[in-house]
Amino acid sequence: MRLVAAAVLSLAALAGAARRPSANLKRQVSQLRDKYDFVIVGGGTSGLTVADRLTAAFPAKTLLVVEYGDIHYAPGVFDPPTDWITANPDSPPAWSFTSLPCPDMGNQTAFVQAGQVVGGSSAVNGMFFDRGSRFDYDAWAEVGGPEFANSSTTWNWDTLFPYFKKSVTFTPPSPDIAQRYNYTWNLSAYGGDTPIYASFSSFQWADQPVLAKTWTEMGLEHAQECAGGDKQGICWVPASQDPVTARRSYSRLGHYTDVQPRANYDLLVNHQAVRVVYPNGLASGPPLVEVRTLADGSLFNVTVRGEVVLSAGALHTPTVLQRSGIGPSAFLTSAGIRPLLDLPGVGSNLQDHSGPPVTWNYSKPYDFFPLPSEMASNATFKADATAAFNATPARGPYTLAGGNSAIYVSLPRMDPDGYTTIVSDIRAMVANGSAASFLPADLRGDRAMAAGYDAQLLAIANLLANPAAPSLETPWATTEVPYATAWSFLLHPLSRGTVRLNLSDPLAQPVLDYRAGSNPVDMAVHLAQVRFLRGLLGTPTMRALGAVEVGPGAAVAASDALLADYVRQQITLSFMHPCCTAAMLPRDRGGVVGPDLRVHGAAGLRIVDMSVMPMLPGTHLSATAYAVAEKAADIIIQAWRRQ
Ligand SMILES: Cc1cc2nc3c(=O)[nH]c(=O)nc-3n(C[C@H](O)[C@H](O)[C@H](O)COP(=O)(O)OP(=O)(O)OC[C@H]3O[C@@H](n4cnc5c(N)ncnc54)[C@H](O)[C@@H]3O)c2cc1C
Ligand SMILES: *[C@@H]1O[C@H](CO)[C@@H](O)[C@H](O)[C@H]1NC(C)=O
Ligand SMILES: *[C@@H]1O[C@H](CO)[C@@H](O)[C@H](O)[C@H]1NC(C)=O
Ligand SMILES: *[C@@H]1O[C@H](CO)[C@@H](O)[C@H](O)[C@H]1NC(C)=O
Ligand SMILES: *[C@@H]1O[C@H](CO)[C@@H](O)[C@H](O)[C@H]1NC(C)=O
Ligand SMILES: *[C@@H]1O[C@H](CO)[C@@H](O)[C@H](O)[C@H]1NC(C)=O
Ligand SMILES: *[C@@H]1O[C@H](CO)[C@@H](O)[C@H](O)[C@H]1NC(C)=O
Ligand SMILES: *[C@@H]1O[C@H](CO)[C@@H](O)[C@H](O)[C@H]1NC(C)=O
Ligand SMILES: *[C@@H]1O[C@H](CO)[C@@H](O)[C@H](O)[C@H]1NC(C)=O
Ligand SMILES: *[C@@H]1O[C@H](CO)[C@@H](O)[C@H](O)[C@H]1NC(C)=O
Repeated sequence: MRLVAAAVLSLAALAGAARRPSANLKRQVSQLRDKYDFVIVGGGTSGLTVADRLTAAFPAKTLLVVEYGDIHYAPGVFDPPTDWITANPDSPPAWSFTSLPCPDMGNQTAFVQAGQVVGGSSAVNGMFFDRGSRFDYDAWAEVGGPEFANSSTTWNWDTLFPYFKKSVTFTPPSPDIAQRYNYTWNLSAYGGDTPIYASFSSFQWADQPVLAKTWTEMGLEHAQECAGGDKQGICWVPASQDPVTARRSYSRLGHYTDVQPRANYDLLVNHQAVRVVYPNGLASGPPLVEVRTLADGSLFNVTVRGEVVLSAGALHTPTVLQRSGIGPSAFLTSAGIRPLLDLPGVGSNLQDHSGPPVTWNYSKPYDFFPLPSEMASNATFKADATAAFNATPARGPYTLAGGNSAIYVSLPRMDPDGYTTIVSDIRAMVANGSAASFLPADLRGDRAMAAGYDAQLLAIANLLANPAAPSLETPWATTEVPYATAWSFLLHPLSRGTVRLNLSDPLAQPVLDYRAGSNPVDMAVHLAQVRFLRGLLGTPTMRALGAVEVGPGAAVAASDALLADYVRQQITLSFMHPCCTAAMLPRDRGGVVGPDLRVHGAAGLRIVDMSVMPMLPGTHLSATAYAVAEKAADIIIQAWRRQ
């Protein structure tokens, strides 16, 4: 009885309660079928995309998604009743991690989250819906080496772009809104009709054009479109939201609730995939999937006929593998797990975006109205905003997720004199064999890991030397008290961290070791970027407003040592883009999956989520997660059609 009531309650919470969702919701293992053709671990951004495509392509094959979380209403990152983009009380559950201290960043810890809900991180993210530069994705092919470049499933910009287009429906703003804010776009970057929506808000805070003017005075140009592979200058970035209601668009709606019901599609919620099990050895896949009922801790094996796809995200996919005995053997042994397959790349190669701010205040009065602080200080304004959001079409501040513009700048553009030193330092550390010394201690001696890291550093050197490949992102900067703030994102970090099981509690959250700043080149790039960004204070617009720098300040910025101290103290170590912990690289480069996303050496097992990227692209990740999942789904569909 209780279970039925709970199911009815959560179904009532569905935004499209009138529609029957595509999958059959299961809450108990007793409701499952005897066997499934496909099992997908993790009903998040990538997992639901793949599930949708496979169940549509193969009506006669059964598919089960195993999801840790449940179905929840997922408001936008800035929706009523919030005052600003701080925690929305209605947000669905998310995991919160605090990393180990980073010794090279003043022992600071990274705070990272991941969605724990049907829809995964797409249900809790900031809805900033950009794509990387073409060079970011071409670098994946570069680090894969000739074996990967020649594969029929090459991963680069040209082969991913069609899937970026397919994965999303873009709706241009109305002509009057476009003219009001000078929105630009190019439809050739879009063209898909998947019900995952990208659209522009009909609202801007009053300081947006002021910042845009400042950027142009720093020599940056407005880009017509940044989602078509060329990402430089001042970019408009759509939000992942419905063009009419401005409500969050995410994988639970677009790949589950809003697609037609399918008899072959089951979704099991409130269950943790513990591990995959190969009763007859790794070559005899697909494995069984051992799931744990969260309510009582009981275990159950799901039998699979076709294959298993791990889509638990970059922080959890490695835990499923490690609990299965697939990972760095020495670590597994120390954890009391019998190693089945030595793949040192599992849980290694962790990357994320990080960066310090440049801050200032204004010494002269300004009349920017409205600013976000109005939401908290002015009840009339907030009531008007709420009414406007509930109108059709939605209007007003609540339709603007956070901000929807950013600048993207290459290192040669920011530091024309210094960038060659940075680039040649990276190449030298590869050439003289010292690069591997920056890997985690227990991976330094591993030849494959060292070879993969060398390949990545050379690819990053090429990115940092490329005047058309952005190294810095600064999202829309606020003018708010106490300080106006412009963040300096490091888009291509060289440091590498780890995700590993907690030895005393392997079923709980893993231990994250970010190791930020462990490769000293990252600090050199931070310094160059902060120095460039400080240039905004000297622009005519900022001088006219009497901008006074708060941090780092001219005296600090003049000294490498002081500025590095500033970075260590002020840096935010995660912008919530963890990735790359089961990298698509050859096995002799420390890879975990091949270009077909099959785990090296384990039959019937693939990975499709943000852990398969070998290197972090210069973008927030959700659009890339959808595109990777779309391409992966095609690869899997082709493979089963051939059988
Ligand atoms: C707070 C936050 C803000 C962000 N802001 C932005 C942004 O503004 N723009 C942007 O583009 N990107 C943003 N991102 C990043 C982006 O949303 C994610 O990188 C992307 O959605 C990850 O997709 P995924 O498929 O790899 O994993 P997820 O979408 O996280 O899916 C993983 C799923 O697996 C489930 N799971 C985990 N372990 C298990 C298990 N053992 N058994 C069963 N299920 C399991 C989880 O519950 C989850 O549903 C943000 C992320 C966060 C967390
Ligand atoms: C970081 O922590 C380590 C271990 O506790 C300590 O030895 C070191 O001095 C700390 N570093 C800083 C900058 O506080
Ligand atoms: C990859 O293709 C190139 C050009 O076709 C060829 O020269 C090279 O030998 C191929 N490499 C591998 C490993 O197959
Ligand atoms: C839009 O562009 C025009 C022409 O370049 C410019 O005059 C105007 O100030 C811009 N408006 C905004 C809001 O940026
Ligand atoms: C849109 O982009 C395409 C491809 O880059 C380009 O050929 C075309 O000229 C652009 N359209 C406009 C209107 O600028
Ligand atoms: C799952 O299968 C494995 C291998 O056959 C077995 O060792 C394990 O006990 C099973 N688990 C459950 C819960 O049945
Ligand atoms: C700006 O910040 C500086 C440094 O914190 C402070 O001294 C000054 O009073 C501030 N000015 C205004 C106008 O807030
Ligand atoms: C509060 O907001 C309303 C509605 O936008 C506006 O008219 C009014 O001027 C604001 N009040 C103050 C004190 O800024
Ligand atoms: C290798 O090159 C790096 C970068 O130039 C340098 O810092 C390091 O000292 C060199 N190491 C050796 C062993 O030569
Ligand atoms: C590991 O798990 C234990 C028990 O839950 C917890 O006390 C400890 O803090 C965890 N360790 C780390 C490094 O997170």
